[in-house]
Amino acid sequence: MTMRKAIAAMAICGLVMAGVVGLGSATAQQEKAKAKRKGEFAKLKVKPVTKAIASLIPTKGSDVKGWVTFTRIDDRVEVRAEISGLTPGDHGFHIHEYGVWSEDGMASGGHYNPTDMPHAGHDAEQRHVGDFGNITAGENGVATLVLEDSGVRFFGPTSVLGRGVVVHEKADDLKSQPSGDAGARLAVGVIGVANPEEK
Ligand code: CU
Ligand code: ZN
Repeated sequence: MTMRKAIAAMAICGLVMAGVVGLGSATAQQEKAKAKRKGEFAKLKVKPVTKAIASLIPTKGSDVKGWVTFTRIDDRVEVRAEISGLTPGDHGFHIHEYGVWSEDGMASGGHYNPTDMPHAGHDAEQRHVGDFGNITAGENGVATLVLEDSGVRFFGPTSVLGRGVVVHEKADDLKSQPSGDAGARLAVGVIGVANPEEK
């Protein structure tokens, strides 16, 4: 080996060594960052969501208002609602795609339908996740509802958090596509995470 070749070989060796050392320290840094993130997550007190609530706000010209709660009980969710300012009789009641209130309620979009099913009643096997059928107001204009549901989720791709709840002018006929021909939107609420300790 000539002197020149030997120097070249040493230089290459040195470069490779530097590369290995460099790589090693980069990995160590990544590991350190990962451990730090892990520590930060461990410090968080994340409780799974077990209750959600929507306050229903009247649309323009409407006096309809109230609240809806969604409470996880074992493998199902109990839906409770109390809504006032209605005309006596049935009114379509659904979760809509967007949790956005607007004067005419239209900003809430169509029925929440993450599983791509036809519109139907709450008891139907194939229906929109948001299909709750009707609420029925008495002579005093107040409707109360208690309903057990198996489609409402608080996490994952079909989660209802951040979606809208809509009360309609007319009854949902439970069959017309895409939304049961329930007419104008009288109140819209946004589903948010609720304090499970509060009733
Ligand atoms: Cu609706
Ligand atoms: Zn529907």
